[in-house]
Amino acid sequence: MDSQTNKAALQIRGVRKSFGEGAARMEVLRGVDLEAETGEILLLVGPSGCGKTTLLTIVAGLLDAEEGSVTLWNQRIDRMKREEKTAFRRENIGFVFQQFNLVPTLTVLENASVPLLIRGLPRKQAFERTAAMLDRVGLKGRYEDRPSKLSGGQQQRIAIARALVGEPRLLICDEPTASLDGETGAKVMEIIRLNALKEDRCVIVVTHDSRVFKFGDRIANVRDGVIESVVPAPQTSSVRSLSLVAQGQ
Ligand SMILES: Nc1ncnc2c1ncn2[C@@H]1O[C@H](COP(=O)(O)OP(=O)(O)O)[C@@H](O)[C@H]1O
Ligand SMILES: [Mg+2]
Repeated sequence: MDSQTNKAALQIRGVRKSFGEGAARMEVLRGVDLEAETGEILLLVGPSGCGKTTLLTIVAGLLDAEEGSVTLWNQRIDRMKREEKTAFRRENIGFVFQQFNLVPTLTVLENASVPLLIRGLPRKQAFERTAAMLDRVGLKGRYEDRPSKLSGGQQQRIAIARALVGEPRLLICDEPTASLDGETGAKVMEIIRLNALKEDRCVIVVTHDSRVFKFGDRIANVRDGVIESVVPAPQTSSVRSLSLVAQGQ
């Protein structure tokens, strides 16, 4: 296969989206072009309300754009039927939602196991794998609690464990460190980097948190509904060495 084609993970072309009707109509995305490569963490940065969550939701096929295309590993997600999108998402995409979207009636362990259970993994295996992931994000011993018993930062870590446990090819994180202190945020970003950069994966992270910048490869700046610029992230040598660990070098 063409190595050039293999490298492209995500291609967004001319994506437009508006909300509301008539005088209340608001154009949020006005022609977004953006690429992400296999093996990279792309950070999406921009002021609140500029359309970052809208863009992520379109990339995951949870919301339809009005115009434009979204291609994930040579597959046009915008052209898929609803059931195809659901199946594609189940197999390929992990999403850390800004508002976590945890199920209040399920335990921590059940919440984080959802991606494995809906893929049909036996409960015992799903729970073992999920427990190991919960331990990694610092939630050992909280398996049987309901999410409401945990702090905001702990709930955010359940959402992160749930997104990572299925080892998704594309990991999408919407402000994943927003409720975390600096030290926990750095730990979580290291876990995201180690997990996400294995094999042929790709990660997109929306963030306001400048402490996260060093964990990325490139930063895309969103402004007025378009990608204003894409620049290299200011990586430190300790973060670069994490990539080598992830690649088994
Ligand atoms: N479902 C919706 N209906 C109406 N307006 C929406 C909807 N989703 C988002 N918006 C509006 O679109 C703009 C961009 O929102 P969002 O993508 O959440 O921005 P960001 O994540 O960058 O803060 C905001 O003004 C928001 O109020
Ligand atoms: Mg948002």
